[in-house]
Amino acid sequence: MSTGADSTAVRTALWRALHTIVDDEPLILDDPLGLQIAGVGDDWRSRPDMDPDRTMPNRASIVTRSRAVEDELARSGLRQYVLLGAGLDTFAQRHSGTVRVFEIDQPATQAWKRERQETLDLPLPALVPVDFEAGDSWRDRVVAAGLDLGAPAFVSMLGVAMYLSPDALHDTLSQAASLASGSVMAFTTSRPIETAPPAIRPILAEASAGAAASGHPWLSLLGPDDAAALARGAGFSSVQVLTSQDLHDRYFADRRDGLSPVGGEDLVIATV
Ligand SMILES: C[S@@+](CC[C@H](N)C(=O)[O-])C[C@H]1O[C@@H](n2cnc3c(N)ncnc32)[C@H](O)[C@@H]1O
Repeated sequence: MSTGADSTAVRTALWRALHTIVDDEPLILDDPLGLQIAGVGDDWRSRPDMDPDRTMPNRASIVTRSRAVEDELARSGLRQYVLLGAGLDTFAQRHSGTVRVFEIDQPATQAWKRERQETLDLPLPALVPVDFEAGDSWRDRVVAAGLDLGAPAFVSMLGVAMYLSPDALHDTLSQAASLASGSVMAFTTSRPIETAPPAIRPILAEASAGAAASGHPWLSLLGPDDAAALARGAGFSSVQVLTSQDLHDRYFADRRDGLSPVGGEDLVIATV
C-alpha cells in the first residue's frame, strides 16, 4: 500500500469520527466511516490532537463545515458535486441520492485513499488527481473525468485554502468561477490567528505549529472581508460569508454541551 495519506486529511477524518463517539446527540454530522478509511491503530484516541476537551473547538469546526456544505448542496438541488482537496471525505459513500461526485486531491493522497476504499470494498466516486500548486487545471481534468460543463455544479473546498499559496488559491477559485451559470462554490477560510477570539488563539497557534512541523504550513489566512473580496476577484457574481458565529447560531444554538465552532473556519458561499 502507498503511504501518501495527507496527515491533515487523516486528522480531520478522525475528528469527525471522534464527534460520533464523545459528543452529545444530536450529532452535527454522523460520519464514522472516515475512521475506517484512515486505518489507524486502536490507540488513535490517545493522540494529543484527539484530546476530546482541548481540541473540542477544532472538532466542532470540522464537523460543522461538512454539515453546512452538505446542507447547501441539498438546498441547491445541483446534481454534480466536485470536492477540491477531498481528503477522507465520505459524502460519496453516505449519500444515497443521484448526485454525481468528483473528488480531487493531491495524487499521493488520492492513490492512498483509493487503495483503502478498494480494500474496504467501498463504492468509489470519480477520482481526479491534481496538485493545485503545480499549474494544472483541475477544471480541465474534472471535465475529462465526466463533469458536464453545460450544467451547473456544486464545488466545495473545505479546510484547504489555508494550505495554498495566494496564487494557487486565486487560480483554483477562478476555475470554479468559470463553470456554468448557477454553479456554487463553498470554501472555508481560517482567520489570522491574532484576530481569533483570545480563548481560541492558543489552539490555533498549536495547530499552526503542528501543521508547519508536518510539512503543511498555513500560507493563506483570511478574515471574512478578505475572503469575500478574494471570491469576487476570482469572478463570482454573488458572495456570502457565513462566519463561525453564524454557523454556531445555525447549528449549535440549542446545545448545552459547550460544543461550538466559534473562532474556527468561516464559510464562503459564492455563486457563478
Ligand atoms: C485539512 S485536509 C481537508 C480534507 C477534507 N476537505 C476535509 O474536510 O476533511 C486538506 C486537504 O487538502 C489537500 N491539499 C492540500 N494541498 C493541496 C494541493 N496543492 N493540491 C491538491 N490538494 C491539496 C490535502 O491533500 C488534503 O486532502
